[in-house]
Amino acid sequence: SNVVAFRGTRQAGIVTEAQDRLHFASFDVITDSRDDLIDMLQRWTAAAERMTRGDETVDGGAVDHGEYNPPADTGEALGLDASSLTLTVGFGPGLFGPSASDPDRPDRFGLASRKPDALKDLPAFAKDAIEPSRSYGDICVQACANDPQVAVHAIRNLARMGFGVVSVRWSQLGFGRTSTTTVSQQTPRNMFGFKDGTANIRAEQTDVVNRWVWVDPADNAAPAQWMTGGSYLVARRIRMDIEPWDRANLSEQEAIVGRTKGAGAPLGMTREDDTPDFAVATADGPMIARDAHVRLAHPDNLNGIQILRRGYNFTDGSDGFGHLDAGLFFIAYCRDPDSQFVPMQKQLASKDAMMEYLTHNGSALFACPPGLQPGEWWGQHLF
Ligand code: HEM
Repeated sequence: SNVVAFRGTRQAGIVTEAQDRLHFASFDVITDSRDDLIDMLQRWTAAAERMTRGDETVDGGAVDHGEYNPPADTGEALGLDASSLTLTVGFGPGLFGPSASDPDRPDRFGLASRKPDALKDLPAFAKDAIEPSRSYGDICVQACANDPQVAVHAIRNLARMGFGVVSVRWSQLGFGRTSTTTVSQQTPRNMFGFKDGTANIRAEQTDVVNRWVWVDPADNAAPAQWMTGGSYLVARRIRMDIEPWDRANLSEQEAIVGRTKGAGAPLGMTREDDTPDFAVATADGPMIARDAHVRLAHPDNLNGIQILRRGYNFTDGSDGFGHLDAGLFFIAYCRDPDSQFVPMQKQLASKDAMMEYLTHNGSALFACPPGLQPGEWWGQHLF
């Protein structure tokens, strides 16, 4: 079916089979009124539930509210089906008061005591070129769908409904998934032309998902228990230097990744699902180089750490200098960013040969609560 259930134990859009398209938005809360914020979250929840079913934000919203009123729904999804739309909400550190990126932020909504320890701005990594206008934010909504217009419609209408309460801080379109989150999915390719998502966590690996994705009751003291069953979303806008990459020869590209370009097999093997053997040596050194991306990102070389990757390819036109502004909008879900994403990215930022072709220019972290039971609204157990 092309409808993904909106309510459940978990939020949809995390282990849900990765859809093809993304529109991700990060919002700043611009009101000091707790009541207005709660009211908007309630209206957002109702609209999100309808849109994920394939309906307009409100009944008859695009045309049936009179000729002399602006329509309640913007209308561009009329006639389109649900397209597996999922809307996943998350809350950023700034919603709870001061944070590393905004130390003077007041605790406008009395939430400081409810902030989980894990929810703090990511540290600076080597070679970071973070632009604040593409980073941070108080609330995020990740819209994923198999039709780009459905994902864009959802974000556009939530932004419109949030008028006076939130403003869009930044947003990102993704045109193709770069991950596989269920065993039945084919592995897609990223902008370097390589299969991406081969060694990702899969929804069916329940033990692995429970160990590395969902927040456990033991992870937080009582005031932050609202995050139990949720997950932390790490977003990184990673520009890829396509033109220099395209001039690198095939063996160099494969050495950087540590897998073959055609089949996606670990170097020295033939099939995508072959297990990499980091011990295999050649006359010139290890078959999978010491600075190869997959060696450095592999759990064996990171004390067992794993994350759930759910990123998207992007191309935001060109940069005015004749180069594509293209890359990977990296999204990862994890139970504790500090002990999962942070050490992994630290290792990659300082040692990964691929870094020569990458610039991380956007960064954000959000706490995504668990799913909604009937009648509940986004953030209910936080406020
Ligand atoms: C694996 C590309 C950034 C973590 C891979 C693979 C490719 C790839 C081609 C091999 C196929 C697969 O297993 O999915 C890229 C590109 C990136 C990027 C082009 C940036 C534009 C990152 C970042 C992280 C990361 C920022 C985390 C901090 C991983 C992990 C694996 C992986 C955990 C699986 C390693 C394994 O267990 O074999 N990546 N990646 N990647 N990448 Fe990346």
